Amino acid sequence: MCKTMSRLLWVSLTVLLGAVAVGIYWNYDGFDPESVRGATVVITGCSTGIGEEMAYQYARLGAKILITARRENRLKEVVAKAKSLGAQEAHYVAGDMGKAEDCERTIQTAKEKFGRLDYLVLNHVGSNVQSVQEKVLQGKPWDQDPDIDFFVDYLNVNLVSYVRLASLALPLLKETKGHLVVVSSGFGKVPWPNVSFLCTDKFALDGFFSSLRVELMKAQQDVSVTLAVLGFIRTPKISENLKV
Ligand SMILES: NC(=O)c1ccc[n+]([C@@H]2O[C@H](COP(=O)([O-])OP(=O)(O)OC[C@H]3O[C@@H](n4cnc5c(N)ncnc54)[C@H](OP(=O)(O)O)[C@@H]3O)[C@@H](O)[C@H]2O)c1
Ligand SMILES: *[C@@H]1O[C@H](CO)[C@@H](O)[C@H](O)[C@H]1NC(C)=O
Repeated sequence: MCKTMSRLLWVSLTVLLGAVAVGIYWNYDGFDPESVRGATVVITGCSTGIGEEMAYQYARLGAKILITARRENRLKEVVAKAKSLGAQEAHYVAGDMGKAEDCERTIQTAKEKFGRLDYLVLNHVGSNVQSVQEKVLQGKPWDQDPDIDFFVDYLNVNLVSYVRLASLALPLLKETKGHLVVVSSGFGKVPWPNVSFLCTDKFALDGFFSSLRVELMKAQQDVSVTLAVLGFIRTPKISENLKV
């Protein structure tokens, strides 16, 4: 009886210790905040929402940031706040990522201001035809509203520009063994009715950037490619549209 008890105790103890070890291993991300100090970072879509917050996080870690979006007045405010939070440098490029020349100007400005690039964070989302939040809230199946003009513009702003910016930045990222981050969402993993344009874009980003990751590995290029799959986040724009 006593022998069985003590064996049970040992087994439980081993299982418990094992669970703790696995827990620690899973929670250890190996991230050293000091590695971001002085790092040069380009982030797109920073006039509000997740991009604006990422700008502040990099700023707190002492990075040098270059942010983009269309609204210059907002970018000026975000740059000022980023500086006050500890960014070693903060610059902006006001432009429309749907335009090739504005993408080129963004990476060119990073080259001129920093002379190098450690992180490219592709985050912007938008359309020049109709507000994306509005489109999502309308919640129509594709065949009830087959809006091709919107679709073409959407993929140009949110897919083609991601590929364009990454292509322009790759030579710089290779030099620094840098990092490419692509912000995606659950819609990039699970098909969903009424938001087929969102799914198309995020699935395509996964297709392109996962292929690129393998190509870089095969070529022994030490540039990391990360797809950040986010869940629902209540940003100012979403609150505005829900009107609550
Ligand atoms: N919020 C969520 O629940 C959620 C969930 C999963 C994933 N995500 C992903 O997270 C990322 C950021 O989303 P968010 O919710 O923060 O979006 P958001 O609040 O709508 O902000 C989008 C940003 O992109 C900029 N932008 C839009 N169109 C542009 C264009 N043509 N050229 C340049 N910049 C443009 C906007 O600035 P301007 O209007 O000033 O140009 C703004 O700064 C997106 O990739 C999104 O798919 C969001
Ligand atoms: C999609 O839109 C249709 C028609 O507006 C609606 O009946 C349905 O509930 C929506 N589905 C989802 C998952 O939002």
